[in-house]
Amino acid sequence: MKIFNSAYVGQASATSLPYPDNYFDAVITDPPYYDNVNYAELSDFFYVWLKRTIGDLYPDLFSTPMVPKTEEIVSNPIRHGSGKKAKEFFEEMITKAFKEVYRVLKPEGIACIVFAHKSTEAWETIINALLNSGLYITASWPVHTEMKARLTAKETASLASSIYMVCRKRTEKSTAYFNEIKPEIEKRIKEKLEQFWNEGIGGSDFFISAIGPAMEVFGKYESVEKLSGEKVSAKELLDYIRKVVSEYALSKILKSAQLGGIDKETRFYLLWRWTYNSAKVHFDDARKLAQAVGIEITEHWGNGFIKKEKEFILVSDAKGRGKDFLEKREFENMIDVLHASLLYWEQNNKKAISEVLSETGNLNNNDFWQVAQAISEVLPEGDKEKQMLQGFLYGKESYKKAEVKPQVYQQRLFEE
Ligand SMILES: C[S@@+](CC[C@H](N)C(=O)[O-])C[C@H]1O[C@@H](n2cnc3c(N)ncnc32)[C@H](O)[C@@H]1O
Repeated sequence: MKIFNSAYVGQASATSLPYPDNYFDAVITDPPYYDNVNYAELSDFFYVWLKRTIGDLYPDLFSTPMVPKTEEIVSNPIRHGSGKKAKEFFEEMITKAFKEVYRVLKPEGIACIVFAHKSTEAWETIINALLNSGLYITASWPVHTEMKARLTAKETASLASSIYMVCRKRTEKSTAYFNEIKPEIEKRIKEKLEQFWNEGIGGSDFFISAIGPAMEVFGKYESVEKLSGEKVSAKELLDYIRKVVSEYALSKILKSAQLGGIDKETRFYLLWRWTYNSAKVHFDDARKLAQAVGIEITEHWGNGFIKKEKEFILVSDAKGRGKDFLEKREFENMIDVLHASLLYWEQNNKKAISEVLSETGNLNNNDFWQVAQAISEVLPEGDKEKQMLQGFLYGKESYKKAEVKPQVYQQRLFEE
């Protein structure tokens, strides 16, 4: 195939494009991802050398001593004064850039916007920017773009996928009530999640992948309101998405839509292991995951399996429960009981397992066994807790046999 048009490469800020209105059939952009990379600072390293070698060939591009930084769309608390100001700056600038995309796009044109960030704060800014620009998402795909071995992927819960969002210009100016469109949002999220689940998308990617489908419904309207007349914020939309995704993920992990018999802390534990496993997660994201299952994380850290380490949250496995966990015998949820059982299993103490399971009413509780099975399936190969769970589950029938029934126990006391 012969291509007659050569490409034109130009330089300008995305916030003021040197093109007329309704000009392009498509705009494809990979914008900055909030605070992921400080490109301008990085570029300084190359800029000073390039300026000396090819600066005279491109004097316009090398007119400043260092890379110009004021127009850079990035959330940088050091440059912008505080975390809050940096967030506001990013949102304002990316909105300007998306408004420019809207302006230069033909009425029937399409925009493709890529975004990848695991924090919901970053997504909040992107959602607000998109809604305010007049663009709305018509389709979205998570695309595997990142290598597992990337530096930031270690320890923390980095995303493996970028989300490709296909957008069009919103032509209708209608308003909807959130309550009325919630069922449609839920339906759309679940349709897509079914597909993503079958394709093996998991962890933090799963939550992020649901944002596009939800926005396909939400973004059709110029404004979505609550019954009070107040506008629904991006934060409220994200909270709702997280709730729908959590319920869906839990029902898939547990292979049952019935979650009624499973306490909130246990739901949280399951979801956490599936999403983040043993990663350290920023407090804010941890709090949001907890909220999706109805628990307030600040009320739980310190005395259970939720631990705080500076601004990060960790969820401990059975081995990390601390020395006096078994002695105290204060078991408040299924995970406490399961962790105690796993520790007794490691001590080869079947009698103690039977006791703790029957005292807490879990020996014949299907939900409990389903939870244990689900966690063992969710954890990766080689994980210590997975090994303990497999061993523990293998002995399931023997704990029932080792159960000391109260009457039998009394009888024996008399005999002795
Ligand atoms: C996620 S990166 C794109 C990476 C690119 N797709 C690649 O593979 O090399 C975002 C880019 O947006 C640039 N950028 C930041 N602010 C900008 C602005 N106001 N106008 C144009 N580009 C900007 C950054 O310098 C960075 O190169």
